[in-house]
Amino acid sequence: MTAKKDRSEMIRVDQAGEFGATRIYAGQLAVMGERGPHSAEIRAMAEQEVGHRAEFDALMARRGVRPTALQPFWHFAGYALGAGTALLGPEAAMACTAAVEEEIDLHYSRQLDELEADGDDPELAEMIHRFREDEREHRDAAIAHGAENAPGYPLLHAAIRLGCKAAIRISEKI
Ligand SMILES: [Fe+2]
Ligand SMILES: [Fe+2]
Repeated sequence: MTAKKDRSEMIRVDQAGEFGATRIYAGQLAVMGERGPHSAEIRAMAEQEVGHRAEFDALMARRGVRPTALQPFWHFAGYALGAGTALLGPEAAMACTAAVEEEIDLHYSRQLDELEADGDDPELAEMIHRFREDEREHRDAAIAHGAENAPGYPLLHAAIRLGCKAAIRISEKI
């Protein structure tokens, strides 16, 4: 029987990420409108992010984990990233989704490796496993909708991934 580890940091960063995702999609939809070429696709992904966030909110409340103190910043930064990429065009918006989801996939995979090795938190592992499947679908959908055709894709993609990596590190601790 392994001792139960403190998973507060994991839950904190995951909730921050799912919250940020809802804000990115909100920013994209605000710019692209309800009738844009990819709006239905984005709305469907946005609804899944709302569900992910709600489940992490509930887990946080049950376990008494405090949310990141940077929530107001992610509120703004996520929205700005979504709106900013949508302003560059629908393919840039999809490039943003592809980059973010790729980073989230890696992040969730690392967490799952740890959780599965320790085997002490099946509840959290099940959630992350389920959400990771959705994030992978979002990434594939973004690529199918032309993410890689965005102008300056390699740079945009690399910059957003770097931003996500920083956000992940910061939100574990603060
Ligand atoms: Fe998500
Ligand atoms: Fe997602």
